Amino acid sequence: MGREEKIFTAYENVGKLSSLYDGMMTASTLVGKFALKFFWGLSVDEYFTFLDKALAGVPKDFSGRLLEIPVGTGVFTLPRYKNLTQAEIICADYSPAMLNAAKDNAKKLSLSNVTFVQGDVGKLSFCDNFFEVVLSVNGLHAFPDKDAAQNEICRVLKPNGIFCGSSYVTGQNWRTDFFVKHFCNRVGVFTPPHENLSSLNARLKNFYRRVEISNVNSFACFVCSK
Ligand SMILES: C[S@@+](CC[C@H](N)C(=O)[O-])C[C@H]1O[C@@H](n2cnc3c(N)ncnc32)[C@H](O)[C@@H]1O
Repeated sequence: MGREEKIFTAYENVGKLSSLYDGMMTASTLVGKFALKFFWGLSVDEYFTFLDKALAGVPKDFSGRLLEIPVGTGVFTLPRYKNLTQAEIICADYSPAMLNAAKDNAKKLSLSNVTFVQGDVGKLSFCDNFFEVVLSVNGLHAFPDKDAAQNEICRVLKPNGIFCGSSYVTGQNWRTDFFVKHFCNRVGVFTPPHENLSSLNARLKNFYRRVEISNVNSFACFVCSK
């Protein structure tokens, strides 16, 4: 199975178990809390610090065009869009099952400023310089073609636009690295090769004039200006 097919299949399966996934990703279940601590080395408080940092590049009163890719089930981000009433938000993901779960979550929140698009980050259908913000939470470590993803994200971003979000990085916690190598990569929810903090910084600097990067354990959070 090729890497594109492997990750597609993996997330189609995750999408079918979206309530389990959402419980883990919001640390609202015992399994989620255990996995956070054991595999990611994070307490619930540290995890929420990480989420705030991952979303820090989106201004609280944002009013332009925003692309979120990959939205996954939207469990972290959709609740925050409720307050961005003047923004035009497009949420994209490769997996129809993840997108369907995101659409269900958006319906529960009665969101009217968000549209959903199925698509590959490596072949975006938007014009050059289209978005003021591109948000990618936990996308770079999953995307099968990292160069195509970075090229496309930068292409659709306006000059002075912001690329922000988060990604797993190696070299911060041996237990996390072991888990990623022997589980996440194998089942296909992550796609190697993975960056470490300094190589991710260097890669982002190839595309953006200003890069702010920090980490909460094995998660790097970044805010970049084109
Ligand atoms: C780790 S999840 C992150 C989702 C969400 N941002 C979150 O934090 O819960 C990775 C997502 O990337 C999506 N994905 C994988 N390859 C993709 C691609 N080439 N283009 C767009 N989305 C992709 C998967 O379908 C999955 O929903």
